[in-house]
Amino acid sequence: MDNIAGSPVEGENFFGRENDVKHLSQILTNDDVLLLGPRRIGKTSIARAVMASVRAQGWRAIEINVASCMDERGFLDKLNTALTPELASISSKIGAAIADGFKAATNRVKSLKVPLPGAGSLGIELGEANAEEWTKVGCDVIQLIGAAEARWLIYVDELPIMLFNIIRADPQAGTQRVRRFLDWFRNDVRAIPGAHSVRWLVSGSVGLDTLVHQHAMADTINSLSHQSLAAFKDELAVEMLLRLSTRYQIPLSETDAQAMVGAVHWAQPYYLQIAFHHLRTLLSERPDTALKELIDEAIDTMVQPGMDNDFHHWEQRLDMQLSRNDAAHARAILKLAAQDPLGAKPETLLAVIESRMPNEPQEDAQRVFINLRDILERDAYWWPDASSGAKRYRFRLEPLRRWWLRRNTL
Ligand SMILES: Nc1ncnc2c1ncn2[C@@H]1O[C@H](COP(=O)(O)OP(=O)(O)OP(=O)(O)O)[C@@H](O)[C@H]1O
Ligand SMILES: [Mg+2]
Repeated sequence: MDNIAGSPVEGENFFGRENDVKHLSQILTNDDVLLLGPRRIGKTSIARAVMASVRAQGWRAIEINVASCMDERGFLDKLNTALTPELASISSKIGAAIADGFKAATNRVKSLKVPLPGAGSLGIELGEANAEEWTKVGCDVIQLIGAAEARWLIYVDELPIMLFNIIRADPQAGTQRVRRFLDWFRNDVRAIPGAHSVRWLVSGSVGLDTLVHQHAMADTINSLSHQSLAAFKDELAVEMLLRLSTRYQIPLSETDAQAMVGAVHWAQPYYLQIAFHHLRTLLSERPDTALKELIDEAIDTMVQPGMDNDFHHWEQRLDMQLSRNDAAHARAILKLAAQDPLGAKPETLLAVIESRMPNEPQEDAQRVFINLRDILERDAYWWPDASSGAKRYRFRLEPLRRWWLRRNTL
């Protein structure tokens, strides 16, 4: 197994989540899946493993990443581009008929007009009119592939980013268009003949759940089976580090590996890979230093300027998914929780929000706090730890806590 820290991993390099792959594949037999989680927790890697697993059962599987899509047509374009080679490989007569129908659909996608953002009331009218247009083309495309005699898995990566793009680019009608998109997905697509042979795996690194709650459209994603990726249990994390150390001939003992896992605290494979990467680099620079010393340094290196790209995302996604005020409140309570590896007590955190809302009733501050507390727990910033008596909200990822602290210290 190679020490890869960045790109999705496949084959030999995909470690420790075989059971999750089985579990997701099983769910997909009957349901569509929504896999949400912070950046870098391995969504794309597992989705590709799931694609490989269903292909082995005779399914066809395609992947589209819609992060760069600014509108509905962009989505259909991506779908088309990914489907074209797949359909071309269906050699039967029915395949040829589908491919022909598909060419026609492609032309329709190309000629779709998209709503004009920011065109005032005109934007809303156009938005509605064109929404009908693209939903129809979208349904025809799905119907075509549903007619191919196979089961299909369509993996849509970063859907929430596309939806946020639509909302941001079209302040007038964006929210309405997102609702329409999600409705299309839930209702229109399901009503298509043959739709049962098409399954969807949707994933994203910013909270689609926050988006739909904020705009009161939670109903639109209820039909998806919500899944997440838990961190590795300590033993599995240790096993991964030992496997990496064998590969790179580093004399890491089990105790060292445990220390590393403890220092990362939230044993998602990416952070283990990164920590191991820094350990390797440090060791090659100073081969005579005791590993134990280097482990701590490796963790510290993760949060230094220039090495800390991954942590910025944790800050940015607050702005992406929360209102301006809420994002600022969230930053304030995270700043406090970052002061201590063991976290902060809820009453102290609530007091921070109260002091930021001096002119509003205490219940309002409490409501804001509870809402943010839950979002930050769900999005893996922190967790309620009651192991030492009173409950404290503490950072899940210790390197992130150190980074947060560094970023908030002069
Ligand atoms: N099963 C695994 N075994 C080993 N390493 C893994 C595994 N899953 C993820 N990783 C590590 O995490 C990194 C990121 O994986 P991946 O790209 O799949 O995550 P992601 O959640 O899709 O990230 P992003 O949100 O940036 O798209 C990999 O480069 C690798 O270091
Ligand atoms: Mg990814």
